[in-house]
Amino acid sequence: MAPWSGYAKKIFGNPTKGGRQLTNEKLNIGIVLGSTRQGRVSPQVGEWVKGIADKRGDANYEIVDIAYFQLPFLGTTDGTEPGIAAWNEKLANLDGFVFIVQEYNHSITGALKNAIDFAREAWNNKAAGIVSYGSTGGARAAEHLRGILGELMVADVRTHPTLSLFTDFENFSVFKPQDLHQDNLKLMLDQVIAWSGALKTLRQK
Ligand SMILES: Cc1cc2nc3c(=O)[nH]c(=O)nc-3n(C[C@H](O)[C@H](O)[C@H](O)COP(=O)(O)O)c2cc1C
Repeated sequence: MAPWSGYAKKIFGNPTKGGRQLTNEKLNIGIVLGSTRQGRVSPQVGEWVKGIADKRGDANYEIVDIAYFQLPFLGTTDGTEPGIAAWNEKLANLDGFVFIVQEYNHSITGALKNAIDFAREAWNNKAAGIVSYGSTGGARAAEHLRGILGELMVADVRTHPTLSLFTDFENFSVFKPQDLHQDNLKLMLDQVIAWSGALKTLRQK
């Protein structure tokens, strides 16, 4: 039984009121890898985020790899591929997201857009942070993603680590982030956790 159920709730009110997460139940945060190409660097970036996030102990963080779900191109099949249902189920069980975003032609990858389009309600009233990379930190791709998230009622937080292909990767392929990104990442995670907890109360109404 939840510690705040029943009598305690009557006396103290709703423990999640005001957006603060006061129950012991940890939030589930998915670290979504936005690229699927062979030789991609996104798994290295995702593991860096997860390593720092796990040390906080404030949520269950997991890597969510779009490639694993083997989604078809939206609308080209009858929609019965098991990966489509599994993708929606995975998203439904998450309270918030950290998108690992790489810039392809000044935008997000086609794979990420396709995966985003494959769900609707499972995105709604959740929070997200963005970690992006590219020649200019992936900033243009990240801004495109923000517009998409608005349509899906995903609240994207302000703080946004931007990684450079020139100074945070060796030979554009081995991820070696500069120390300065850590503080930004931690602040971004603070914001994702705060908003994910707040929005969870909205979904429970
Ligand atoms: C099709 C394609 C288009 C790209 N366009 C851009 C771009 O517009 N701006 C940029 O900064 N990097 C661009 N890049 C470089 C990628 O950001 C870089 O290769 C990055 O490592 C891709 O992420 P991934 O390794 O996780 O797939 C492009 C790469 C590809 C494959």
